[in-house]
Amino acid sequence: MRVKDKSIIVTGAGGGIGEGIAKRLAAEGAQVLVNDINPAAGQQVVEAILRDGGKASFFAADVTKSAEVKALVEAAVERHGKLDVMVNNAGWTHRNRPALEVGEDEFDKCYAVNVKSIYLATVHAVPAFRANGGGSFINIASTAGVRPRPGLTWYNGSKGAVITTSKSLAAELGPDNIRVNCINPVFNPDTGLAAEFAGGPLTEERKAKFRATIPLGRFSTALDVANAALYLASDEAAFISGVCIEVDGARCV
Ligand SMILES: NC(=O)c1ccc[n+]([C@@H]2O[C@H](COP(=O)([O-])OP(=O)(O)OC[C@H]3O[C@@H](n4cnc5c(N)ncnc54)[C@H](O)[C@@H]3O)[C@@H](O)[C@H]2O)c1
Repeated sequence: MRVKDKSIIVTGAGGGIGEGIAKRLAAEGAQVLVNDINPAAGQQVVEAILRDGGKASFFAADVTKSAEVKALVEAAVERHGKLDVMVNNAGWTHRNRPALEVGEDEFDKCYAVNVKSIYLATVHAVPAFRANGGGSFINIASTAGVRPRPGLTWYNGSKGAVITTSKSLAAELGPDNIRVNCINPVFNPDTGLAAEFAGGPLTEERKAKFRATIPLGRFSTALDVANAALYLASDEAAFISGVCIEVDGARCV
């Protein structure tokens, strides 16, 4: 039980990578507050965790809204008596296409869900971490933030902002015993965003072309990312802050 009784929020945990992180952390003893903007999806994840003997509950919140993120943090403290870890996983991308064809509304949504969410999580969770003698943020960025490719320019930039912001916060919040780290997954075809990243239906041809760029020869899974999150959330990572773990089969080298 590597995170036994830790109080952990996972945002966007109603599906995809967040679901995998929530389940893995719960299996290792954490009390998980499953967040999503979609209550039906989030509740299903909670039910699955409870069926497996884990501890979890759901809290609906939009990570782009300050009052909702505040209420999310308060719910974790109220339900678990403290907050130890916040995994900022909720994310969104515009469809893969030329930069000039992405609308202003899509740009705004991308930066709200991917970047403003980090600002709001910081503003609202840091006081709870300070009250608890420290804490840990795990921000799900992307290989897109370090090895950008054409077609996802505004998404790539938003993930670059997540990475730089996380490093800056690690430097600033270290004296409060607050760790801030990122995980950069490579493409995962089994998620809600996969067709948007690919720019259309995931044909075998599209997948094969992308897979050929990953030295270990496969895509990432939610479990791959969850295992990295488990390490960063655990006390084994007590001296690890300001890093990005690439979960990418060496794609970024
Ligand atoms: N799938 C990939 O290939 C991949 C690769 C690298 C990084 N990522 C990142 O991983 C994270 C998870 O993405 P995923 O691929 O699992 O996507 P997904 O679409 O499968 O899951 C995202 C979840 O977030 C929720 N969500 C969306 N907006 C929200 C909001 N405003 N407030 C609360 N919840 C919200 C959705 O309802 C959904 O359940 C994202 O930050 C994404 O950028 C994904």
